[in-house]
Amino acid sequence: MFRATAFILLAASLAASAVVSSGAPYHPEDHPAVALFKRQGSGATAPVGSPEWKAKYPQGPIAGTPVPAAWLTAYDNAVKAGKIPQLAPSVMENGNPTYPGMDPMSPEIRSATYQARGDDTIEKWDAPANTVVVSFDDGPIANSSATLYDFLQTNNQSATHFFIGSNILENSDLAMQAFADPNQQIGVHTWTHPYLTSLSDHDVVVELGWTMQIIHDLTGGRVPSAMRPPYGDIDERVRAIAAHVFGKTIYIWNFDTDDWKIGEVEGVTQDGCYQKLIQWYGGAQNPGLMILEHELSQGSVQAFIDSYPTLKQHNWIAKNAGNAYDKPWYLNSVNNTAPVISLDVAAPASSIVPSPTAAAPATPSNATSTKTGATASATHGTTHNGAAGNGVSASFGAIAAFACAAFALL
Ligand SMILES: *[C@@H]1O[C@H](CO)[C@@H](O)[C@H](O)[C@H]1NC(C)=O
Ligand SMILES: *[C@@H]1O[C@H](CO)[C@@H](O)[C@H](O)[C@H]1NC(C)=O
Ligand SMILES: *[C@@H]1O[C@H](CO)[C@@H](O)[C@H](O)[C@H]1NC(C)=O
Ligand SMILES: *[C@@H]1O[C@H](CO)[C@@H](O)[C@H](O)[C@H]1NC(C)=O
Repeated sequence: MFRATAFILLAASLAASAVVSSGAPYHPEDHPAVALFKRQGSGATAPVGSPEWKAKYPQGPIAGTPVPAAWLTAYDNAVKAGKIPQLAPSVMENGNPTYPGMDPMSPEIRSATYQARGDDTIEKWDAPANTVVVSFDDGPIANSSATLYDFLQTNNQSATHFFIGSNILENSDLAMQAFADPNQQIGVHTWTHPYLTSLSDHDVVVELGWTMQIIHDLTGGRVPSAMRPPYGDIDERVRAIAAHVFGKTIYIWNFDTDDWKIGEVEGVTQDGCYQKLIQWYGGAQNPGLMILEHELSQGSVQAFIDSYPTLKQHNWIAKNAGNAYDKPWYLNSVNNTAPVISLDVAAPASSIVPSPTAAAPATPSNATSTKTGATASATHGTTHNGAAGNGVSASFGAIAAFACAAFALL
């Protein structure tokens, strides 16, 4: 399953090319996201893809997973600064997040699932005029991602890949292939593809934090700035955690191919998705197109590939999310090859030992709902989820060893 030699060689060449220089920070030094990834790890020598390497990260369902104290401290500070609305998680009903007794469109909630948009400075739905934002969710996937990456590279086409952390864990060679193409921006989807609004604050921190951590560890210390919530499900509480604890810009979409349903839902075909794409490419160019697509299956990837000549014919500017909105791809680096500043900590999980003197973190809302991952996403099936299928109940051994007072809040 793992071609260890290739990993090591690629890891070595990336490390050599990526981490060397320094430059100006792209996030203010006093932003909480900067402090978060600053703790320098030690002994991060296990080869990428090896069992020792994998053991640094969550292995199965993520609910209740221990979380490095630094993340909780950052969360605590954001709460103290009044930046995180104290809003109960949504309640899943028939596969949809609901807010009993409250209006999901209200200013307090602004649920994107109900098409309420967040503040435009942190959340994007429409692409700029004449622009197609090219992005793919749910990778890296063994059977389909390499086809996509080869096509993008051959065509010098940039894209943003909103990766699932647990898929990176299983397909780290593909994650590194994507990053090795200087046009490919790596963004955060989550670790297990849950409805984020249904999770406690604590579990939102875990879902985002670990996904950022594994991307950081594989990309020469880059901390992703782009995030897309699974199912496009986000509300004011989760937005605030993403933006104020983790420095994220959130990208939703304004056109949806439904390509994740290919082979899953009767009547949804590769050709149907292709037809949608070429119709949109032939349509109005203001606003531009932020299209939801997936690197989830050969069919979803092929629909994009087959439609690409039409995109070009209509003179769209096709860009990844960072380039389309003129934002750095990472909090501490413009792109995959530009200098990286010192958020570069290889803070591997195994080195994050909470200080016994650290201030006790605030207690995140403990009103948890659906238990994340595999079960929470059952309506869209494990294939769309892409991460839940492994059902590993493996121990969090290496991580659990660092459990600290903070976990009492679970
Ligand atoms: C994906 O590839 C693996 C390994 O080649 C194969 O066993 C599996 O059946 C494939 N899955 C799909 C959905 O094509
Ligand atoms: C991609 O860029 C390379 C190097 O600049 C160039 O040789 C090649 O023709 C380009 N390919 C396409 C499809 O534009
Ligand atoms: C990455 O950033 C550097 C420095 O700004 C720039 O020279 C380079 O062209 C960029 N690469 C891409 C693929 O945009
Ligand atoms: C959190 O847990 C405490 C102790 O079990 C309980 O008293 C409190 O009501 C819970 N808070 C929420 C929001 O569920």
